[in-house]
Amino acid sequence: MGRFLLVALIAMIATFTLLSFPLPSVGNFEFSKDPAALQRGEYLVTAAGCVSCHVNLDNLNSLSGGLSLESDFGTFRVPNITPDVTTGIGKWTANDFVRAIKHGRRPDGGFYFPAFPFRAYAGLSDQDVLDIGSYLMSQEPVAFDSGDHELPVWLGNWMMAGWNFLADFQAAEPVEFSDPIVARGAYLARNLGHCGECHTPRNFLGILRADLEFAGATLGESHADPINLDALRDWSADDFAFFLFLGMKPDEEYVGGEMESVIAHNTSLLTDEDRQAMAAFFKFEGPR
Ligand code: HEC
Ligand code: HEC
Repeated sequence: MGRFLLVALIAMIATFTLLSFPLPSVGNFEFSKDPAALQRGEYLVTAAGCVSCHVNLDNLNSLSGGLSLESDFGTFRVPNITPDVTTGIGKWTANDFVRAIKHGRRPDGGFYFPAFPFRAYAGLSDQDVLDIGSYLMSQEPVAFDSGDHELPVWLGNWMMAGWNFLADFQAAEPVEFSDPIVARGAYLARNLGHCGECHTPRNFLGILRADLEFAGATLGESHADPINLDALRDWSADDFAFFLFLGMKPDEEYVGGEMESVIAHNTSLLTDEDRQAMAAFFKFEGPR
């Protein structure tokens, strides 16, 4: 009886949540087949590190998913984002895509878990997100079911409505940079590259501590070093840009752990200008 009441209560709260958080309206978007858009999309997929999580280790040329991401809250299976109509995103509209990437919302109105770094992507321009989507839709569909997440029974995706609300509340006001290079670097680091998802510590709910941005964080067994101004005092901007290219630090040590994949799939493939822009942002002394 007690258990029945509990289930009924959770179902009621879930229904209430879904009704009170309707899908955000995002405009009227369309995917493009324009080669220039697809080319921009391909670059942005690299800069946003989609490959590190959505790669399928048995089919390396596709983003058909299957990796398991361990977290304090359970194991997440990264889904297939090729345009396969049954196991991927082949049936999605451009509006579905923008809502997923920028708002963490499922096409059916549900919520994504923040193992998918949609809060970092929330700051992307609509055009960039559309270019990413257009590129993904132009890829070969791959039929592959990545399987279900393994989460505790009490953890429902609708709870992320409350989580997003709390996270919004603690988020920092975005700073407008007058230097366009620093602004580009901030966009690459905070939004596309989502560096803070690993390098910024979280509170007990897993919400990033805006007051400790880039102060270093523990990730399961490993540790992402601090990369704030203090920690980078002995790094020149060129050292930093070079690190993003090769993974070699000023002391000539190579970086390891999860950062190896960030260098290999993301930062080493960017333009020199973009690596320099990130360096300019991380070494920027003004308010940020
Ligand atoms: C840190 C790992 C990570 C990165 C980086 C990442 N994703 Fe994901 N993504 C996930 C996980 C985990 C989910 C599933 C979340 C859930 O089910 O709540 C997901 C879900 C999605 C979905 C929803 C798919 C569906 O079937 O509902 C889309 C679309 C998506 N990601 C696209 C992208 C794109 C595009 C990028 C790069 C811009 C990206 N992701 C980067 C981990 C990641
Ligand atoms: C998936 C998690 C993850 C992401 C995303 C990530 N990092 Fe890292 N990073 C790490 C880990 C873990 C280490 C420590 C690796 C080791 O132990 O060698 C690290 C190390 C580093 C270091 C070396 C610092 C030092 O003092 O040794 C720098 C610099 C760095 N990351 C910059 C970045 C930047 C810039 C981004 C965004 C473009 C980024 N990282 C994104 C996990 C991540």
